[in-house]
Amino acid sequence: MLFDSYTMGKTVLANRTVMAPMTRSRAVANNTANALMATYYAQRASAGLLITEGVSPSANGLGYARIPGLFNAEQVAGWRLVTDAVHAKGGKIFVQFMHCGRVAHQANLPAGARVMGPGTEVCPGEMWTDGSGMQAHTAPAAMGEAEIAAAVAEYATAAKLAIEAGFDGIELHAANGYLIEQFLNANVNQRSDSYGGSADKRNRFALEVAQACVNAIGGERVGMRISPHGVFNGTGAFDGVDAQFVTLVEKLSAMGLVYLHQLDHSAMGAPPVPAALKQQLRSTFKQTFIAAGGFDAATAEALLAAGGADLVAFGRPFLCNPDLVARMKLGAALNEPDMSTFYTPGEKGYTDYAVLA
Ligand SMILES: Cc1cc2nc3c(=O)[nH]c(=O)nc-3n(C[C@H](O)[C@H](O)[C@H](O)COP(=O)(O)O)c2cc1C
Repeated sequence: MLFDSYTMGKTVLANRTVMAPMTRSRAVANNTANALMATYYAQRASAGLLITEGVSPSANGLGYARIPGLFNAEQVAGWRLVTDAVHAKGGKIFVQFMHCGRVAHQANLPAGARVMGPGTEVCPGEMWTDGSGMQAHTAPAAMGEAEIAAAVAEYATAAKLAIEAGFDGIELHAANGYLIEQFLNANVNQRSDSYGGSADKRNRFALEVAQACVNAIGGERVGMRISPHGVFNGTGAFDGVDAQFVTLVEKLSAMGLVYLHQLDHSAMGAPPVPAALKQQLRSTFKQTFIAAGGFDAATAEALLAAGGADLVAFGRPFLCNPDLVARMKLGAALNEPDMSTFYTPGEKGYTDYAVLA
């Protein structure tokens, strides 16, 4: 099944493998995609669906060093290199919109941009800056209603730019503690206005962003990634988490989103997502369901056969095996990822992983 073609909305995928979104920090000039990035994605175009690294829809969302954006004409032109290279090889590619929100350092942002989030609480931990190494996160400004409306509009504008840049669709990153999850998660969202204080109010920002993007480019081109029970960036489970996410997913399904991408990072040390919740999310979302986190060919096949997902995403295996699909088909050995080059500029550990002869 893993290697069979699959039609997702209006997009025909060559197989049921997905390259999971992975930040690689190679957008060295002006947070703009470039020819090296086009080579990297084109090398992996035999995935059924490629999802890009996290890409900010706003200057304010560029929390990490050298991550790409998609909010100006230069960035559209940069991404056009990538989508053309992938399409030339018969691949399909969605762009992941990751607004970092409070997971940011001011030094990583361009002039005039601001670190912001649902509240003023600082994200725990540290992050890399090219000028001064590891630094505590910058204290965010709490977003007022006007700033929330502006952020929603930025996602919708970026969705239109994504189509202009040649993407087949967009994925909204509502996982791993970035801006959308900062609103969803009760451990982060301490608001008491109409964007916080109850499950429905915490879901509101995610649903407004999704609806604005659906209005901009159509639901068949909009997916969302979620990570209930994830612990990245000061998130974690909270009272009522499962019920809140089921309600969210019911609404996303009714809105016509093309896919739901559900993440389980227990293979990376996070608490496991309860099996009952996974099943409930799967049955609640009526369109395509993607599962991610810790899969190999055998566990992916088993999940597809059991009906637990329509597509399976692979992260690290695609990072270090450009020809992952061919290797899995043959049962060939896989390369191992080199963590030391995950986020470093240049070709090393990026476009130089070996392919089978
Ligand atoms: C280097 C690296 C960067 C990542 N960056 C992102 C990202 O930008 N957006 C995202 O949603 N997940 C990101 N992830 C998580 C992956 O998409 C995936 O969920 C995770 O690696 C688990 O899948 P795996 O076990 O197949 O690697 C990243 C993972 C890695 C290893």
